[in-house]
Amino acid sequence: MEPTFLFFALFFLSSSSSSAFHLQTYIVQLHPDGLTRPHYDAAIDWHLSFLRKLVSVEETEENDDDGAASSRLLYSYTSAMEGFAAQLSEFEVETLKKSNDVIAVRPDNKFAIQTTYSYQFLGLTPAGGAWRESRFGRGSIIGVLDTGVWPESPSFDDRGMPPVPRKWKGICQEGKGFNASNCNRKLIGARFFSKGHRVSSSSPPDASTEYVSPRDSHGHGTHTSSTAAGSSVPTASVFGNGAGEARGMAPGAHIAVYKVCWFSGCYSSDILAAMDVAIRDGVDVLSLSLGGFPVPLYEDNIAIGSFRAMEHGISVVCAAGNNGPIQNSVANEAPWITTVGASTLDRRFPAIVRLSNGKFLYGESMYPGNGHENELELVYFANGDNGSQFCMRGSIPRAKARGKMVVCDRGVNGRAEKGQVVKEAGGAAMILANTEINLEEDSVDVHVLPATLIGSDESYRLKSFINATRRPKARIIFGGTVKGRARAPAVAQFSSRGPSFTNPSILKPDMIAPGVNIIAAWPQNLGPSALPEDSRRVNFSVMSGTSMACPHVSGIAALIRTAHPKWSPAAIKSALMTTAEVTDRQGKPIMDGDKPADFFAIGAGHVNPERAMNPGLIYDILPEDHIAHLCSLGYSRGDIFSITHRNLSCHEIMQKNRGGGFSLNYPSISVIFKAGDKRKVMWRRVTNVGKANSIYSVEVKEPEGMSVRVRPRKLKFKHLNQTLSYRVWFVGKGRNRNKNTRFGEGQLAWVDRNNSYRVRSPISVTWRK
Ligand SMILES: *[C@@H]1O[C@H](CO)[C@@H](O)[C@H](O)[C@H]1NC(C)=O
Ligand SMILES: *[C@@H]1O[C@H](CO)[C@@H](O)[C@H](O)[C@H]1NC(C)=O
Ligand SMILES: *[C@@H]1O[C@H](CO)[C@@H](O)[C@H](O)[C@H]1NC(C)=O
Ligand SMILES: *[C@@H]1O[C@H](CO)[C@@H](O)[C@H](O)[C@H]1NC(C)=O
Ligand SMILES: *[C@@H]1O[C@H](CO)[C@@H](O)[C@H](O)[C@H]1NC(C)=O
Ligand SMILES: *[C@@H]1O[C@H](CO)[C@@H](O)[C@H](O)[C@H]1NC(C)=O
Ligand SMILES: *[C@@H]1O[C@H](CO)[C@@H](O)[C@H](O)[C@H]1NC(C)=O
Repeated sequence: MEPTFLFFALFFLSSSSSSAFHLQTYIVQLHPDGLTRPHYDAAIDWHLSFLRKLVSVEETEENDDDGAASSRLLYSYTSAMEGFAAQLSEFEVETLKKSNDVIAVRPDNKFAIQTTYSYQFLGLTPAGGAWRESRFGRGSIIGVLDTGVWPESPSFDDRGMPPVPRKWKGICQEGKGFNASNCNRKLIGARFFSKGHRVSSSSPPDASTEYVSPRDSHGHGTHTSSTAAGSSVPTASVFGNGAGEARGMAPGAHIAVYKVCWFSGCYSSDILAAMDVAIRDGVDVLSLSLGGFPVPLYEDNIAIGSFRAMEHGISVVCAAGNNGPIQNSVANEAPWITTVGASTLDRRFPAIVRLSNGKFLYGESMYPGNGHENELELVYFANGDNGSQFCMRGSIPRAKARGKMVVCDRGVNGRAEKGQVVKEAGGAAMILANTEINLEEDSVDVHVLPATLIGSDESYRLKSFINATRRPKARIIFGGTVKGRARAPAVAQFSSRGPSFTNPSILKPDMIAPGVNIIAAWPQNLGPSALPEDSRRVNFSVMSGTSMACPHVSGIAALIRTAHPKWSPAAIKSALMTTAEVTDRQGKPIMDGDKPADFFAIGAGHVNPERAMNPGLIYDILPEDHIAHLCSLGYSRGDIFSITHRNLSCHEIMQKNRGGGFSLNYPSISVIFKAGDKRKVMWRRVTNVGKANSIYSVEVKEPEGMSVRVRPRKLKFKHLNQTLSYRVWFVGKGRNRNKNTRFGEGQLAWVDRNNSYRVRSPISVTWRK
């Protein structure tokens, strides 16, 4: 998605008013063993009792406390959290906070949603290891929290699918344009959640503009669910572009759709309700291509719900966000979440601009051009009124655009929308020009008129040409689909970057996966540009974002889950991370723009599903291991209780942990050196899932200005499932340290004697003044 989507999100947030009597949605978290809990049989009665007390204190006109109380309640949560979402005034919130049984009251907040080919790029082949070993992810269930699904898409055809797993307890919820017959053995469940959205949004779901049902009105959810686990569709393309066989990452896995995002966004009360139900429904993986901005974990409803999901053995995979390349922008950063950034594929859709002076500008597009577009006069409304330089709605003077090729700057409104604006103003073609914000990022669209997207360098050359030429002209030459030329994978410009704002002691994002120009299933009543004016119809369309990267990893997690049903979410994540690639297809470092990518862009690297199936060793983490880590963040006992439902004293944990520090057994390593720190020690433990009787030796690449020592230097495993520990010392080499370096990078890898396993952890060092 364009960062512009977030502009809209912010606009709506700032427009909501607040006063002491004004009702707003809050999420009320309760103590699971609350003192008043035993007075009620059902959780919902207990939850309602809090509201009854509030409304009976106030004078209700209805004289019906029960009705007034239940009209305030939006959701009752029992699995993702103990508590409820309700409409409350500020005064009522203060009253509730005084109750011993209430742990926390948090305002509801709003989030934004963030192929045919990517499986081949990732090395998955039908005859090959990972798909065969995991039987295409057979039997695993992926829950997708998104904008819903278009069930008739060929990607959700259930031919060849195994029966619905017996453990499945989900339903196919009826609603507008959706009933139980829309579910099948591929799409085994579908539900929608709109209560939080309905009361808080200035534009609640409206039956005339969007389906109030699991059916997708937007396209995003259909795209992400088919990327995770779409069935094989032999002849997929977008008007001939990117033609090939479409498949999700885990074509044998089942999909359960939880619609939580609507045209104007997604509310955490709805997201939490979906997680609450999905845990009971029996999903194995939860895929969340949505997010906001980083907040402390104890205020982060997604983090809290994910902790419970993780305790139930569910892998939670989330998009890192589209706020890159700004540092500290990574969201969904809890250590129990798998956080995924976006990378490019080696596939290009060239649509080259030939200027009337004979020079060429490289651009890309998925407009189905025929290669013989006319030469047209160029026009650019630089610094124009009403946003005409961005081609905002109603900003382009018809008289000056008619029949011309209009240049539009990226930003403010959507890329495809700019094309519609030019078309309505009578323009004949469009060049989308990246700015310093987008640099050379190349997210293509299926534009409604002949159009191409050029990078910021080309954009500068184009504008100089227009400026210096009396009647500047150009034509666009559409070149179809080209594979294998570009260096890939590379980091997507928009992919959110670390270090984690709230918790730099965990390196985030965890990894990157394909997220630029991804082709996947599309609703059959929506044009490929997703604009209401677009009357073209397709079964596949193209999208870019960390939203697209996330379901790739969700699908691969489902493959691992099928191959290794007993592995914990932490073990699955470890397998994904320690086998990820740090070099591109040419064997050179993965690039980020014109420089090699750092760990804050790629985490452990680019996901490699074949290797992830057999990682050799795994770094496992038990749910309770997270408590010591949360203590190390300085969280209070109450904050830690909110997240973990465990009431332990950090002081006691510190005593027990002496020597071991607070290091979480994370598959990547992040070390923070404050002024005066000379050395740090960390513990790690690895479990042998490769071969019995194997010996691993350590290989270390030291970060600049630091020496790294590992003991022992060999790990001798006698049998499978055996766990061995090692210690790592980091010692700053003060003399050699360049004062300007704030960050350093190295790596630690355990390599077995036969070199068949290479278990790699990135080491990230931060020097703090
Ligand atoms: C469900 O929808 C399908 C197609 O939209 C329709 O043919 C069928 O009659 C509906 N079934 C029920 C039980 O409403
Ligand atoms: C900009 O908007 C104003 C007010 O809506 C309008 O009067 C003016 O004509 C617009 N300018 C252009 C160039 O469209
Ligand atoms: C266009 O030309 C003017 C005058 O020569 C110059 O001031 C301006 O910077 C130029 N703009 C661009 C984008 O090249
Ligand atoms: C989309 O898929 C449906 C069902 O397989 C098929 O009937 C239809 O022709 C396809 N549409 C396009 C545009 O390919
Ligand atoms: C946690 O335990 C302490 C000491 O046993 C107790 O005072 C406190 O109320 C407990 N907190 C919660 C949230 O259970
Ligand atoms: C290593 O390779 C040798 C010979 O190639 C083989 O006999 C041995 O079983 C292998 N060991 C492991 C642990 O894979
Ligand atoms: C390893 O542990 C798992 C779960 O604890 C168990 O199911 C499996 O049988 C064990 N494998 C071996 C080889 O001991």
